[in-house]
Amino acid sequence: MCGIVGYVGHRKACSVLLDGLKRLEYRGYDSAGLAVRDGEGIKVIKEVGKVSDLERILVGLDLEGRQGIGHTRWATHGGVSAVNAHPHVDGMGRFVLAHNGIVENYHELKEALLADGISFSSETDTEVIVQLLSKLYDGDILRALTALQARLEGSYALAIIDRDDFNHIYCLRNGPPLVLGLGEGESFCASDIPAILPYTRRVIYMDDGEIAELSPQGIALWDKSGSSLQKKTFFVDWDVSMAEKGGYPHFMLKEIHEQGGVCRSTLKDRLIGGRVDLSNEISLDEKVVSRFEGVHLVACGTSYYAALVAERVFERWTDLDLKVDIASEYRYRQGKIGPDTLVIFVSQSGETADTIAAERKAREMGAYCLAVTNVRGSTLARDCDDVLLLKAGPEIGVAATKTFMGQITALYLLAIYIGRLRGTLHVEQEMELIDELIQLPYKIETVLDREPVVEELASRFADSNNFLFLGRGISYPIAMEGALKLKEISYVHAEAYAAGEMKHGPIALLEPKVPVVVIAPRDSLYEKTLSNIQEAKARHAPIIAVGFDDDERLAQEANYVLSVPYTIEEFSPFVTVVPLQLFAYHMAKKRGCEIDTPRNLAKSVTVE
Ligand code: F6R
Repeated sequence: MCGIVGYVGHRKACSVLLDGLKRLEYRGYDSAGLAVRDGEGIKVIKEVGKVSDLERILVGLDLEGRQGIGHTRWATHGGVSAVNAHPHVDGMGRFVLAHNGIVENYHELKEALLADGISFSSETDTEVIVQLLSKLYDGDILRALTALQARLEGSYALAIIDRDDFNHIYCLRNGPPLVLGLGEGESFCASDIPAILPYTRRVIYMDDGEIAELSPQGIALWDKSGSSLQKKTFFVDWDVSMAEKGGYPHFMLKEIHEQGGVCRSTLKDRLIGGRVDLSNEISLDEKVVSRFEGVHLVACGTSYYAALVAERVFERWTDLDLKVDIASEYRYRQGKIGPDTLVIFVSQSGETADTIAAERKAREMGAYCLAVTNVRGSTLARDCDDVLLLKAGPEIGVAATKTFMGQITALYLLAIYIGRLRGTLHVEQEMELIDELIQLPYKIETVLDREPVVEELASRFADSNNFLFLGRGISYPIAMEGALKLKEISYVHAEAYAAGEMKHGPIALLEPKVPVVVIAPRDSLYEKTLSNIQEAKARHAPIIAVGFDDDERLAQEANYVLSVPYTIEEFSPFVTVVPLQLFAYHMAKKRGCEIDTPRNLAKSVTVE
């Protein structure tokens, strides 16, 4: 959803900005641009395509300036072109601005500016902002920015430089994230931490309605009413190598291979004395938990599938009524939400616009809100009553993999903890579950060692254009996740169905050219799943099954089996999801797709 980076200090801004844009490219990658101080003026360079295309142009220019802003775009208003790429400049050539978000009243603002004789060169809502700023400026930048804020409706994170001010960058936020970095004699702003991680780990998270002034000497902040703010500085515990490929050809593959470690670190320090103990992190206790009647799990995309997996264990280990919903639906629904509802928001980024809007609605209605997220200082984390962090480290590949693993690990811990606090899970049961939990990282690593088998399978099916994914019970959301991974990075059409639903419609699709991927661990629904395999086989569809080691019946029924180590029923998603991620990866690779930056997608969806 667009990435912004800004720098002012003692280094060459151009290289800091380019480096930052490369680290933000997962947020949008149809065009990129930067604006850098160049003597008395500001040089703006924009190009369609990836940041590497922009870099090729910059090679020939010797930009020495120490102040600048950059942007990588995911188009909303206006097609993909160099003119529409950011940064945008006002008609006087004074203010230069990069924007992430959507200005909802841009049409009305533009009409008023046109009536004043101001002309526009792009089709973007962003150009409206910079032209309006220029119009509002009367010599006092803070006054102009406050007035600008009052006129804009919609979402925006802005980074602004002024041709006549060599020392500052100004930032505004309403909706999309903006993090400010404090260095020695330098300051940074960015849409996400990895962009500034090579330079500083001291950050301030901007909140909605705030204005920031960055200079080499430090950062000053004001709220909407113009009052100066003292904000907390956070120390980021990610290091720069976590945001690099580390010898892997793609971030996605590296992140898939990190999953044993992610599960391990998400469990670390949370299993104490043979029990799950989250009391140091969240304030849910017996008293709070006893007032709940229902749990709602709300999320988007892959995080929604993690929530669906969690639903199956919450219903086993607690006595709470459950509802799982997609955030973009939940935010507009009429259902009962109140102080007796625990609403768990699952979001790796903590910045997804629909999830944040759903959280605000639930909070207004008095619910207890808990975020399960990977980003400590994210909007969701700061808005909720409680936060349970995944310990996944930064995820750069657009397709979520290791954060899904972190999410299900954290949600399982939460389900066990709540089950115990409500007295629905007994000590022996909890100990049995913990025994299994601590073996999971090794089992995940065993599956990863079998990557060559998955790669070989992807070679066989690389030309298939339609897949059906089936699963029952806890394997149904894994079928959905497997299908989503395949379609988003290899552009292969893949549909997921609850295996029992196949005969109610999708069976019509089956024929020898439609492979069926069936998630079939030997669990309580195994026999039923085998019957569904028979039905698909009878239509001559090739069967690819994911099942437990040494499952001879499955080997007889399926054409191909991807084996994973045995787990008790509730834990199979931890191992069955991994071959599906690898399959999607290798399919995309064989088909020559851009794996880390799939077309039309952006990692963090900060607009509705
Ligand atoms: C799929 C994917 C998306 C995200 C979704 C929610 O691979 O990454 O479906 O899961 O956009 O994002 P978060 O978890 O940041 O709220």
